Amino acid sequence: MTLHITRLEPTIGAEIAGIDLREPLTHALRDELRQLLLTHKVLFFRDQAINTEQQIAFAKEFGELYVHPTTQQNDPTKPQAHLIEAQDERKLYGPRISGRWHTDTSWLLQPTLGAVLRAVDLPEVGGDTLWADAGAVYRALPDDLRAEIDNLHVVHDFKKSLDKVGYDYPILAHPLVRTHPETGEDGLFINFSQNPSVIGWTPQQSKQLIDRLLLEFNKPEHQVRFKWRPGSVAFWDNRSTLHYPVYNYGDYPRRMERVLIAYDDIPHRVRAANAA
Ligand code: SIN
Repeated sequence: MTLHITRLEPTIGAEIAGIDLREPLTHALRDELRQLLLTHKVLFFRDQAINTEQQIAFAKEFGELYVHPTTQQNDPTKPQAHLIEAQDERKLYGPRISGRWHTDTSWLLQPTLGAVLRAVDLPEVGGDTLWADAGAVYRALPDDLRAEIDNLHVVHDFKKSLDKVGYDYPILAHPLVRTHPETGEDGLFINFSQNPSVIGWTPQQSKQLIDRLLLEFNKPEHQVRFKWRPGSVAFWDNRSTLHYPVYNYGDYPRRMERVLIAYDDIPHRVRAANAA
């Protein structure tokens, strides 16, 4: 099987053709895809008539799966496949006027490695998803700002949502700048949907910095935007990207299924310069 790779943006996003995700992966193909994921950060597949079981089997090739405590399932016998549905999200998080840049499960001590998302029911138009390259965003910051933020820790607070389902987990902070454990690339690790604030800074200082970082994530130069179609699948690295679901489809019950790949044995590194 020969993969056809079409880069979508200079540093992020590639469409992969020449593969049928219904079929089990050979070790060689799995390794090739993993390498492509590290290079392009988010991979897109079109026209894949896969079901939940095949989606789970594909994701499982890349690590143990993580069952998220707050998400619903389409099928309770397959808890690894999380139903992402606007109605449910509204119940859990309140009405959403716009998406937020986030990375999944960053509230965990060891956030998930990545995710496989499959379109199940799409609005006729709208409901795109954007991914931003967290390494490119970091590199685009002025030198003095990079130096200022290199040793900071930022809070990831998902407590309100976890409390709603009775899941007890402490609020924690991660280094704002992390080195990717496999590629060695430095990037920002922040979640704009989880009340980010800088440890040791005043709320005003914190807000000023968070707003500045958001400005950079919002630049289309660092992003890839995916238009879902029936049969579309996205596979991304949560360690090097943030993503943003676009809520522009009114009350349409857009439905997706997401499988999360748990962190593997490779611990993330704090930025090499800090560790020295
Ligand atoms: C997610 O935020 O994990 C899902 C993104 C989407 O629904 O487009």
